[in-house]
Parts: sequence; C-alpha cells; structure tokens
Amino acid sequence: MKSLYAVIGKPIAHSMSPVMHNDLFQHYELDAHYHAFAIEPDDLADAVKGFRAIGISGFNVTVPHKVAIMPLLDEIDPLARSIGAVNTVVNENGRLIGYNTDGSGFVLGLKNKFDDLESKKVLIIGAGGAARAIYFTMAHVGVKHLDITNRTITKAENLANDCPYSVNTSILQLEEAENRLGAYDIIIQTTSIGMAPQTECEPLSLHNLSKNAFVSDIIYNPLETRLLKMAREKAANTQNGIEMFVNQGALAFEKWTGIMPDTSRMTTKVLTQLGGTKC
Ligand code: ATR
Repeated sequence: MKSLYAVIGKPIAHSMSPVMHNDLFQHYELDAHYHAFAIEPDDLADAVKGFRAIGISGFNVTVPHKVAIMPLLDEIDPLARSIGAVNTVVNENGRLIGYNTDGSGFVLGLKNKFDDLESKKVLIIGAGGAARAIYFTMAHVGVKHLDITNRTITKAENLANDCPYSVNTSILQLEEAENRLGAYDIIIQTTSIGMAPQTECEPLSLHNLSKNAFVSDIIYNPLETRLLKMAREKAANTQNGIEMFVNQGALAFEKWTGIMPDTSRMTTKVLTQLGGTKC
C-alpha cells in the first residue's frame, strides 16, 4: 500500500515540500506520496488523531504548529525538546516521534563549507524560533563562540539562557553588533527583514563587514535579500536560505526512509519551482 507523508501548516499553499519530496519518492522508486494539508490551530489535535488513524508514515510541521504539536506526540528527540519546536515527525510502529531538522539542516550546510566550524566566531541576528533552532544546534555540535544581536535584547538573553549546551555568548544591541561586525567569520540572518513586505530593509548595516566573512540569510524568497546583495557588493561570501530548506527536508527524508537523498537534485527542483538561480 502507498505510504502517506505530509506537511501541515497554515498557510501552506506555497510550500515547496510536496514537489521536493514527491520528486525524491519517484527518483528512489518508493511507493509513497507527500501532500500539503492546511490545518487551523484549533484543528491541530484532530488532525494528529486523524493521521494516527490512517497510519501516516511521517510528516513535516510548519508555522504556526511547530510548538503546539509537541504535547500531541509520543516522544520528542532531546535536541528538539531543548529547542522547543518540532518540524519532522516519524511514525515508528504507531508511535509519533518528533524531531527538529531545521537547525541541523542549517548546520549541515555550514559543515560542508567549513572544516573548522567549531572555532569560527559567529553572530546570529534575531532571536525568534529559527534563531533558536540554529543557536542550539550550533552549540550542540560544539561551536564555541556564538553571539546574538536582536531588536529586543531580553528575547536574545532568554534564548541564550535556555540553551543546555555550553557556549560563549555575548548579547549585543544592533548598534554594538554593527560596530564589532569585522570580528565575525560567519553572520547568520534569521529575522523576517528582507522578506516581503520588508524587501528594501536590512536588519543592520554591513559597513564594518570583514571581506573574508561568510554571510548567510535564511530567507529564500527573494533569493537574494538586500543584506546578501550588500554583502556580495563588499566581496563577502554569501548563502541564501535554499540550502537550509533543502537540508532540513533531506534530513527528514532520511529519518523517514533511511536514504540520505541527493541534495543537488532537491536544490534544482526547488529553484525551478521558485523560478531563479543559485545564490
Ligand atoms: P521565526 O520563528 O521565523 O524566527 P519569530 O519567532 O517571529 O519568527 O522571530 C522573528 C525575529 O525577527 C525576531 O528576532 C524579531 O525581533 P524581536 O525579537 O525584536 O521581535 C525579528 N524581527 C521581525 N521584524 C523585525 C523588525 N521590523 N525589526 C527588527 N527585528 C525584527
């Protein structure tokens, strides 16, 4: 019988996950289908109950359900538990197990670029859910120096205080981060600034950016945010959010099927869907 996989969220119509995963099922000759379901927050518990009843094989969880899903599952992986959010669920013999592959997807991309990631000096811009997944996962894999800057300082302080993994962190005002920017090897932009309707904005000035710096923005629509354009113009290396999106999907696919899929194939599929080229 065909296995069913899904993504649940609201809104979900523009999700690229169905195209990406259905292409992989076909490519690896797996009798499975991936479908997007728009689920209202009030219907989440019923949706999970329905998934259990039909014996769904696994599903992704996106905004606004990544936190609310947790009490509805049978087990949560320790990293996902510490992050406080789940984006991937695996059905293991009727037990729904929650994981977070957002942070590990991002870190996988960085590890492919830096052999010595642990010793890099990193600045994270933002302190929301995405920043939390990335900060905790980077601390978990042993990155030693991770600073955070955010508009609301208390949110950054809470994020750092909640992290169970040992790491050196300074919390910086945006202006302080701008002044010290030249000290960072890797800068990770996790806020919504740069995405519509804020496409003409950037979260901070790159005036002091080191030209050897690597600037990553987790936004992939647009493919090049204003921040990345400015970084490119300063001859820094840049990365958009496609790699994180593809890698979180690849790690979910691996958990479901045991196959680590071809991420270049996934990237091409997603870029074709978005109608752009690699940044
Ligand atoms: P996500 O789960 O996608 O990370 P989130 O939890 O809503 O989203 O977090 C959004 C992040 O973007 C936060 O760091 C937020 O800053 P605050 O903590 O000060 O709210 C940041 N952000 C969003 N819009 C912003 C803006 N106009 N200026 C500065 N920061 C902004």
